[in-house]
Amino acid sequence: MAEQQRIVINGGKRLEGEIAVQGAKNSALPLLAATVLCSGETVLHNCPRLSDCDAACRILECIGCKCRREKNTVTADASVISGVEVPTELMREMRSSIIFLGSILARCKTCRLSFPGGCELGPRPIDFHLKALREMGAEIVERHGYLDCSAPKGLHGARIALSFSSVGATENIMLAASLAEGVTEIHNAAREPEIADLAEFINKCGGKVSGAGGSTVAIEGVEKLSPCEHRIIPDRIAAATYLCCGAISGGELILTGVDHADLRPVTAVLEQMGCSIYTYGKGHLFINTRKPLVSPGTIRTNVHPGFPTDAQPPLMALTSVASGTTVFVENIFENRFKHASELARLGAKISVEGKVAVVTGVKALSGAELISTDLRGGAALVTAGLAAEGTTRIGGLSHIDRGYENIEGVLRSVGADICRR
Ligand code: EPZ
Repeated sequence: MAEQQRIVINGGKRLEGEIAVQGAKNSALPLLAATVLCSGETVLHNCPRLSDCDAACRILECIGCKCRREKNTVTADASVISGVEVPTELMREMRSSIIFLGSILARCKTCRLSFPGGCELGPRPIDFHLKALREMGAEIVERHGYLDCSAPKGLHGARIALSFSSVGATENIMLAASLAEGVTEIHNAAREPEIADLAEFINKCGGKVSGAGGSTVAIEGVEKLSPCEHRIIPDRIAAATYLCCGAISGGELILTGVDHADLRPVTAVLEQMGCSIYTYGKGHLFINTRKPLVSPGTIRTNVHPGFPTDAQPPLMALTSVASGTTVFVENIFENRFKHASELARLGAKISVEGKVAVVTGVKALSGAELISTDLRGGAALVTAGLAAEGTTRIGGLSHIDRGYENIEGVLRSVGADICRR
């Protein structure tokens, strides 16, 4: 159904109003995997209604958990795990389903997953995940596109040094280590806010995780974890996207339910471009853009607390109408500029050379027919469409629906002329 649909935007409207930011997709997914560790019924609040979360729930049900959703609360009952295999079609639906390996292995000592497919951003290897789990005692055989994993004597603690601060690998190790024998140390761990959210969840269930958010995370394995109730942190990338939407429209937005600290790498760049940003109260953030936007210079994506790669596409859309030249250096994924050619159809001036994209700001964009190439690339097209003169039609909505809860409804509520047909 989403394939025939189009988001249709008549650009030029100034956004004004308040947006309650959704729960974080990239926290919800590892947390849904973490419910496998608990023999009982876990409750996750502020879980965004996204196709990726639905896919994660289907994986849980496939191994015998019972999942149900009431609005933004998901309950997952993992009292009984009746299977340890995640079939290909589910693995292909969402490449981050590799995150289930650690928790299924920890709980059931065996797991069979098909190799997660690559995605639009590149091959998405999982070598860090497999190397770490092997160091914890897992035997993993890769054959016929499947991963046969087992730890007959259970997993044991290990001192793991990640060659790159991989978010998913850090999360997978934390999940596996929480029920392993002994202590696991992760050196050069990812420091993204979602790591701390996962650690808080595991500790609420009776686990012993320390150092999350820093470069060294220690996990002392425990016998058993009991289910808990947890509220998922706000989605800093959805927040960053809506800030870019507000800024490109020359508007004035209040975001609620955000974590200012998590957004600092993005708000610092927007202030550099001429936006005024104030944080106040609990989780409120105000942005207005009265002055004409200027280029922020060079943007290098990096692991947290550097500039987040997921915010690079929407920011590129914003810089395409800022005066001056912006250089983007994409250090995290090897193929994350596919939205540049779609933005060029609106009149953006972007030249891409490997991991560098050079954006020369133009006075105005004009509407066109576009196709989303990936999740955040699609968000970039929506951002640009808000400012493009005339009508912009965007296809490939299944990409956007993976990470944004009702994006057209949210933007319409603050004055955008946008609908889904
Ligand atoms: C998480 O992906 C996020 N996804 C991504 O968000 C985000 O872009 C990324 O972290 C970086 O912040 C979820 O949390 C579900 P990585 P992940 O492991 O864990 C290479 C979005 O738009 N790598 O930190 O897959 C990998 O190829 C998505 O919401 C290996 O080489 O990211 C990539 O170049 C997109 N071997 C780099 O590391 C491995 O074993 C970063 O990957 C694992 C990763």
